[in-house]
Amino acid sequence: MSSTEPRFLADYRPADFTINTVNLSIELADTSTKVINELELVKQGDHQQALVLNGEHLTLISLVLNDQPLHAELYQLNDTLLTIPASSLPEGDSFTLIITTEINPLENTALEGLFKSGDAFCTQCEAEGFRRISYYLDRPDVMATFTTKVTADKTLYPFLLSNGNKIDSGDLPGNQHFVTWYDPFPKPCYLFALVAGNFDLLEDKFTTMSGREVALEIFVDKGNLAKAEHAMVSLQKSMAWDEQTFGLEYDLDIYMIVAVDFFNMGAMENKGLNVFNSKFVLADSQCATDSDYFNIEAVIAHEYFHNWTGNRVTCRDWFQLSLKEGLTVFRDQQFSGDMHSSAVTRIQNVRVLRSLQFAEDAGPMAHPIRPEKVLEMNNFYTLTVYEKGAEVIRMLHTLIGVENFRKGMDFYFARFDGMAVTCDDFINAMSDASGKDLTQFKLWYSQYGTPVIKVAQAFDAATGIYTLTLSQQSPVTKKQENPQALHIPIKIELINKDFDTNASVNTSNLNQTKLLELTQDTQTWSFSGFSQQPTLAMLADFSAPVKLDFSQDETALLTVMKNAENSFCRWDAGQKLLMSYIQHLTFDADYVISPALIDAINSMLMGGEDRAFIAEQISLPSFDEAAGLMIDIEPLALFDAISTLSLFIAQGAQQQLLATYQACQQVGEEDCVANRALKNVCLSYLSRLPEYQYLVAEQYQQAANNNDITQENMTDTLAALTCSAKVNLPDLSEQLQHFENKWHDTTLVMDKWFAIGASIVSDDIFTQLNDLLKHPQFTLKNPNRARSIISAFAMNNPKYFHCKTGKGYQFLAQQIAKMNEINPQVASRLVTPLIQYKSFATAHQQLMKAELITLHALPNLSNDLKEKLDAALI
Ligand code: PHE
Ligand code: ZN
Repeated sequence: MSSTEPRFLADYRPADFTINTVNLSIELADTSTKVINELELVKQGDHQQALVLNGEHLTLISLVLNDQPLHAELYQLNDTLLTIPASSLPEGDSFTLIITTEINPLENTALEGLFKSGDAFCTQCEAEGFRRISYYLDRPDVMATFTTKVTADKTLYPFLLSNGNKIDSGDLPGNQHFVTWYDPFPKPCYLFALVAGNFDLLEDKFTTMSGREVALEIFVDKGNLAKAEHAMVSLQKSMAWDEQTFGLEYDLDIYMIVAVDFFNMGAMENKGLNVFNSKFVLADSQCATDSDYFNIEAVIAHEYFHNWTGNRVTCRDWFQLSLKEGLTVFRDQQFSGDMHSSAVTRIQNVRVLRSLQFAEDAGPMAHPIRPEKVLEMNNFYTLTVYEKGAEVIRMLHTLIGVENFRKGMDFYFARFDGMAVTCDDFINAMSDASGKDLTQFKLWYSQYGTPVIKVAQAFDAATGIYTLTLSQQSPVTKKQENPQALHIPIKIELINKDFDTNASVNTSNLNQTKLLELTQDTQTWSFSGFSQQPTLAMLADFSAPVKLDFSQDETALLTVMKNAENSFCRWDAGQKLLMSYIQHLTFDADYVISPALIDAINSMLMGGEDRAFIAEQISLPSFDEAAGLMIDIEPLALFDAISTLSLFIAQGAQQQLLATYQACQQVGEEDCVANRALKNVCLSYLSRLPEYQYLVAEQYQQAANNNDITQENMTDTLAALTCSAKVNLPDLSEQLQHFENKWHDTTLVMDKWFAIGASIVSDDIFTQLNDLLKHPQFTLKNPNRARSIISAFAMNNPKYFHCKTGKGYQFLAQQIAKMNEINPQVASRLVTPLIQYKSFATAHQQLMKAELITLHALPNLSNDLKEKLDAALI
């Protein structure tokens, strides 16, 4: 177990010793892997401090200091630290230490350090996993060059991989072989990786802008070669994009990606050897959905972009995590926007932020994007550090402009290449490049919570002057008693037309687009030259991660939907309109929805937007998005409100929904992704009406059970299944049976099957869940599989997760308790929906809290869970 004391950003001090070179020799064996770790250490400055190395779950075999064995009485050892006092260290400033340890990869179900994923060996070292491989100064500001010799059985493990370039290999007695790797770029140990296994290998290459040829290699489980092609193309696109956009070229001669089935997170950017959750590598049209394709491309890009933003320039300490993650998410979002529709990409990113990050920022684990206090670092790989962190970078990009941003990136690399730095260092580079004072902007790194912007408008018809007053408020709590005003870029559009396009109220029809910089608590701007009050479209492109306190009436929203030039504003106005109905219906189930909504939906369906955009426009806010805008949520009333609204739209717009559904089916290859997106939103509405439910069955047959296998498609299959599950259609069990028979050998597809099973909206759900847990292919040891039941239920089945008896909460808590013993990191992520209990109405709060109390009393409670439960239960 790691230390149970929290660490503070304010306590940072540079290391007393650094490591220049690491010479690792790792002899792989399932239960007793031998690690010989030869370090060249350098004392920093004149001091008498002990050398304190981190180490967990290690069996120490021997220590050799400057070629002399170091006997047990000369050092101290406990569960987490190896301490060699100054009196045991040699005289000079530099010395060598050889540490020999033994580890047990087979028993490692936490999937941190060295573990087995199926038949392969694999490592995960970020954030603090290297200390499970050997004793080390496990902190990101200690950077060393690594040489790694891997030895293993030649038949079982033909591929032996590590970071950098291969410098040696050969056969050894007893059917063993070895490969030695050398990584010339100094790196922190969190970027170390080792993989050994028997894979299929997809090979290709990339010629960099300076003409160097880089070998690209993707390793997948045997039989999956064809499924790696999309990942390869995505990698090549990412490499080209980073050269074009930021002038950043790849640096080693080889770039390797390994796909493994057992992985806690999405993927890991280890230098030259990325390790990926197979879900973000493997795809073909039969087994992957359009969003799988999109996500694979995005994650491949994300990890590739880390080579510069993360690896070449890394973090000084883990509190600076957003330095690499916020920036890299921003870069991957820009990349996705350039590869696809930037409008739709932006909308999808905002949906994630509003539904999940806003909830985190309002919950007990809320933290600034640069946290100040951490107990378990794994708990801070959050939507706040990643997604809000990316929004902060985006605001900077908005404030200083594309060119200055690029200049700032150039400054950043020129100054800090090969170093471990802070978020302030990054902002300073941007400030120097642009000449903009970013002192106040830095508060985004230290204050938490979603700011609320209050909007007030006035119009003086006599002078034609329109006045806009904005006030900002960040949450005031015990953790943050006196939040300061932030520097917030607010892009607005002032629309000169009514939603009836013919009724132009200004001679020039051009809308005015402005970038306002809100820096005070309250600020007022005036704009002249209007003959009538313009309509305000707030927060174009979602220019800041804030909530708005701004009620616009239906007419104004319709005007924005129709006439805003900014696509985000057009989409958002529609969502606000839908949200207002959801809110009304939550409080009053008999609320009468205005028929104008149906006209609006029909005109969206018939409008000139691209189909992927229309799909986003007519999709209702999700349960979580809606919940994010409410307090004292009655979850069942909210669920019913969304269902009622959905049914109302289905009934009112059925003709146009059907026509659109059919039109989308008739298109060929071009824009097939957008067509499927729109078609499947239409289907989800139509599936609520008995007379159209045959369409679901038809689509399932077409997409999953087609005589012509090339016509089969996982996006359409899953969309049909989702409809069947949400409406609990009579065909569901037959479809699930067929699906299982067809896919039982394909792990990633079976994860989808489990997830559908857990999201069935049926009173039988708890029986179903228990059956799924007993399924021969279910195991809590595989994080994807565990999440396919547990998270799918807690996140996608709000009606039963929040059921009045508390059974849903209990189900989740029971699974978390089991997971706490197996994989603390995954257990801790699963608890998120429960710790946010305070946003719900009292009866639900009590039920959720009771489960948290039970969990808190668990024997062997991990630091991961403890940190969250402690925060939730005060
Ligand atoms: N650094 C990884 C990423 O963002 C995420 C990760 C963190 C993976 C910790 C594993 C463990 O790309
Ligand atoms: Zn990352």
